[in-house]
Amino acid sequence: MSINTVSTTSFPGQRPGTSGLRKKVSVFQQPHYLENFVQSVFDTLGDCAGKTLVVGGDGRFHNREAVQTILRMAAAHGFARVLVGQGGILSTPAVSCVIRKHGALGGIVLSASHNPGGPDGDFGIKYNIENGGPAPESVTETIYQHTESITQYRISDAADIDLQRPGAARIEAMDVEVIDPVADYAELMQQLFDFDAIRQLIAGGFRLCFDGMHAVSGPYAKAILEDQLGAPAGSVINAVPLEDFGGHHPDPNPVNAAQLIEIMAADNAPDFGAASDGDGDRNMILGRKFDVTPSDSLAVLAAHATLAPGYRAGLKGIARSMPTSQAADRVARALGIPAFETPTGWKFFGNLLDAGKATLCGEESYGTGSDHIREKDGVWAVLFWLNLLAATGKSVEQLVSEHWARFGRNYYSRHDYEGVDAHAANELMASLRIKLAAMAGQDLGHYVVDFADDFEYKDPVDGSVSKQQGVRIVMTNGSRIVFRLSGTGTEGATLRVYLERYEADPAFHHLPTQQALGPLILIAEQVAGIADWTGRAHPTVTT
Ligand code: G6P
Ligand code: ZN
Repeated sequence: MSINTVSTTSFPGQRPGTSGLRKKVSVFQQPHYLENFVQSVFDTLGDCAGKTLVVGGDGRFHNREAVQTILRMAAAHGFARVLVGQGGILSTPAVSCVIRKHGALGGIVLSASHNPGGPDGDFGIKYNIENGGPAPESVTETIYQHTESITQYRISDAADIDLQRPGAARIEAMDVEVIDPVADYAELMQQLFDFDAIRQLIAGGFRLCFDGMHAVSGPYAKAILEDQLGAPAGSVINAVPLEDFGGHHPDPNPVNAAQLIEIMAADNAPDFGAASDGDGDRNMILGRKFDVTPSDSLAVLAAHATLAPGYRAGLKGIARSMPTSQAADRVARALGIPAFETPTGWKFFGNLLDAGKATLCGEESYGTGSDHIREKDGVWAVLFWLNLLAATGKSVEQLVSEHWARFGRNYYSRHDYEGVDAHAANELMASLRIKLAAMAGQDLGHYVVDFADDFEYKDPVDGSVSKQQGVRIVMTNGSRIVFRLSGTGTEGATLRVYLERYEADPAFHHLPTQQALGPLILIAEQVAGIADWTGRAHPTVTT
């Protein structure tokens, strides 16, 4: 075994986006591409002698090769120890959990989250810091600077290690431990939730269906829901992670989780349905013939949090991303705790959680989590819901309807225009920005504009400022339209239009969502000229 220094030249565009560096697999397969990025991460970290690194991914195509490369480079960089998930597998929340539990310096997550996998799909890499959360922008920018000027990287020529067998191995002077990907995570869940109550609920005939979408959460759900909580075998469907996710799009929304939606819409549907995404950090919650929007899910969990042992002491605050509905703010107000509004991207919650300002966080993009780790967490959200259902004896629909009756309903939907021309999408946003200043006070029919701006966030902990985080048009009654370009897509641009209408009157709480939002949808089209700019008359995904 020896350590080699390899000459390289920089690749353009290795700037991490909303959630790490995501590109087509073929891009990552170019010689030196992954190595350049990993070396840039290590150069950003500096001296790693004596330190531990966590490595794992969602099992998608190219995962294992990338893990082996990273291990050889970590050894060359002088790490003392690497913890790697068996088979190269670790869900994103599990990486966060393992970093925190084992006091690691950080971790590398290999995933493109909900983006499709397989040889023609996407691959991704993300660095998480000591607190278990995604690296903040200051760190990702430094990584990017290194990728721009890189001339060499260091790598051991050691052979591949056996990732299938749990136990210890060695590369150069570095210890490698192949760990059970589920064990640490499951132990944490047992501390947070009332497993006995959930076990009893299930033993009493309560039926659930969890869709692993052939992605990483399957093994976690099987171990916890079936083996530990007694759900009958087969309660977890699509449970085996596949390199191409079975050809499906591992994004738990009503469009992609069609099989689960069908199961939950049947007359003999289970009581509870849920799905997670490629890397296990997202969640979709369903009742029998009933969908829970992610924004409502956050609000309901917050309102009942003290029913779960891990949150019995109450919440310190609730944080949501700006485009997420304001339902959680109403709960925060009722609880007398602060509500925070951050830009899209889980990394913005890290400081609030570390500073003890917020306990629960959530995003409209099917992400929910808490201060137990520093990532959003799909299986955690499922267990939280099961804990609430067990503790209240109510159905999913009952819990949500009662929530609306108490707090009012924030009708909510996101319209995505995927794969549109990037130039046109940028022009659309630019032309919107120009109109903002003149919008306040305008009567748009049905709605009068209270204010319109481009969301800017000042982190209350470190004072850092993030600009241009989404154009929002806020009406005098609190209804809103928000426009953003996705930071996670890999083809062209994705325009996201977020629509929210507040309705206090329970007599109007059960309208079809798109109908309830009809006037706002029309205004969005008029104001932004979506069809003109994108050539699309309809969104490709509606959540
Ligand atoms: C990832 C991030 C989330 C974000 C979501 C959508 O899942 O972790 O924080 O909300 O992507 O981001 P996008 O920029 O595509 O709207
Ligand atoms: Zn994800």
